[in-house]
Amino acid sequence: NDLEELAEQIDRDATAVAFTGAGISAPSGVPTFRGDDGVWEKFDEGQFAYGRFQRDPEGFWDDRVDLQRELFGGEYEPNAAHEALASMGLDGHLEAILTQNTDGLHADALESVRDDASSTDDVAVTDDVAATDDATTGTAEQTLLELHGNSQRVRCTDCGKRIDGDPVFERAADGELPPTCDCGGVYKPDVVLFGEQLPGAVIQQARTLARESDVFLAIGSSLVVEPAASLPRIAASNGATVGIVNLESTPVDSSAEVVIREDVTEVLPHLQSLVNGD
Ligand code: OAD
Repeated sequence: NDLEELAEQIDRDATAVAFTGAGISAPSGVPTFRGDDGVWEKFDEGQFAYGRFQRDPEGFWDDRVDLQRELFGGEYEPNAAHEALASMGLDGHLEAILTQNTDGLHADALESVRDDASSTDDVAVTDDVAATDDATTGTAEQTLLELHGNSQRVRCTDCGKRIDGDPVFERAADGELPPTCDCGGVYKPDVVLFGEQLPGAVIQQARTLARESDVFLAIGSSLVVEPAASLPRIAASNGATVGIVNLESTPVDSSAEVVIREDVTEVLPHLQSLVNGD
């Protein structure tokens, strides 16, 4: 079947890259953006646009506190789909994860599977971090590119300092609008806002990974915003096998060899076990 064919290709030393969206974190309890329960049913995207932040940082932060609560207010942890991708990276079967998510769950999963691997001592684990720019972390085995940044951090728009976002969101919730850095600069959530360009180096790296991949898996994304819409197409036009795992159809389905409309927490652990020959 389709999943077996993907697994065989990945197993044959193909360079595989995963591209993820909100659907991979939905089973962890983080809401998606689109659809009936999506956050854009409750909020207007325009409230969080870069232009609004510049014009009205006070109002922006006031609304952003509510959005943060809606998105990340609960307790949430990586699920079986995040873990399957992280394990595939550790086993050398998945070169990179490109994510649109800002929830940090891929990084958490990577950390937990590495801890498990080093405690059972059956896999060689290195401590190298392939940090080439702000959006890239990961291990020697796997690159993690957080294309839209990370909602758990804030960045000072003057001095550029990045810090943990929790205390700053708390200050904003307590009425410090907008919250500011010691240097006097206004903090901004460390994410890419609507109307704001993705950093050039980040988008470049994402395109290169898409172009060089043999297998490109788009997982849990509606694939309607850029660069989500174009990365699978770049991969396909450079000869990659494109696989889409998403509950709903996407505008890119017609460019994909394999389309699987099932829950990510079913499909990805299954794929991982097929790649491992279980
Ligand atoms: P969307 O909310 O647009 O799409 C999530 C997709 O995941 C939907 O098509 C769902 O069908 C699917 N889905 C949900 N649960 C699933 C599950 N358990 N298994 C499989 N599929 C599932 O989210 P994104 O595509 O990530 O940008 O949205 C892209 C960007 O638009 C976001 O990064 C955000 C948003 O506006 C910024 O904040 C800049």
